[in-house]
Amino acid sequence: PVHDARAGSAFRPSVIAHRGASAHAPENTLDAVDEAASLGILWVENDVQRTRDGELVVIHDDSLRRTTDAEEVFPGRAPWKVRDFTAAEIALLDAGSWFGAAYTGVRVPTLKEYVDRVEHHHQKLLLEVKNPELYPGIEQQTLKLLSNEGWLDRRHLTNRLIVQSFSADSLRTVHELKPGVRTGLLGMPALADLPRYTGFADLINPSYAALSPAYVSAVHALTGPHGKPMKVFVWTVDDPATAEAVAGYDVDGVITNKPDVVRRALYGY
Ligand code: G3P
Ligand code: CA
Repeated sequence: PVHDARAGSAFRPSVIAHRGASAHAPENTLDAVDEAASLGILWVENDVQRTRDGELVVIHDDSLRRTTDAEEVFPGRAPWKVRDFTAAEIALLDAGSWFGAAYTGVRVPTLKEYVDRVEHHHQKLLLEVKNPELYPGIEQQTLKLLSNEGWLDRRHLTNRLIVQSFSADSLRTVHELKPGVRTGLLGMPALADLPRYTGFADLINPSYAALSPAYVSAVHALTGPHGKPMKVFVWTVDDPATAEAVAGYDVDGVITNKPDVVRRALYGY
């Protein structure tokens, strides 16, 4: 079991391991989840897409090329799009050796395997529906899988699951299908546009680059779909000074490839 670093210090943000502890282990793999757990990090973020035969898998790019050996295993299948390969084909790929020889043979996890591992560690999941425009119906399918795995019970909904996307349409769909699920809109809409999202987004999750204290307060002043102030999880912050700065803006979460570095900066351990 891992501990919630935020417990007892309500004024500090949660630390979220981006693509798992992805500075320590290959992104979006079970090893990256394990690494976050062994660092004592409660939250992991991932990216969900779909294979040709309809399996949900955890991978960031819409192509297999950067993070697997698809180019070698399946020459002639350029541009190696996730959606053009079956789950059985993707299961053959090495998703670890690009990161380091120690991770040779690590696989692209299915969402089911991933969620089971997060549950095993009693962690929390920030699940990104990635490129939803490529995968019609992926929201419903993802919710069904989460439901089957026990992730839509009250305990998970209130505490352990947030679904995020750059697509407001996708989040609206998630909210309409399962109103209890908390959702986060990636990006930084203009202040004047924020009220458009209050009906279906509990969080606004911007890049740190253009973020300001005024923007964070403006989000906090709005009420989300569950009757609570909207929150801000910021990404992707890997250095201590930026972590301190955004914590000073009163953000609610810091999404980082280096959760150990950010936790040390914010909590001193
Ligand atoms: O969680 C925020 C972040 O994951 C959004 O960008 O490209 O890393 O999925 P990206
Ligand atoms: Ca992501």
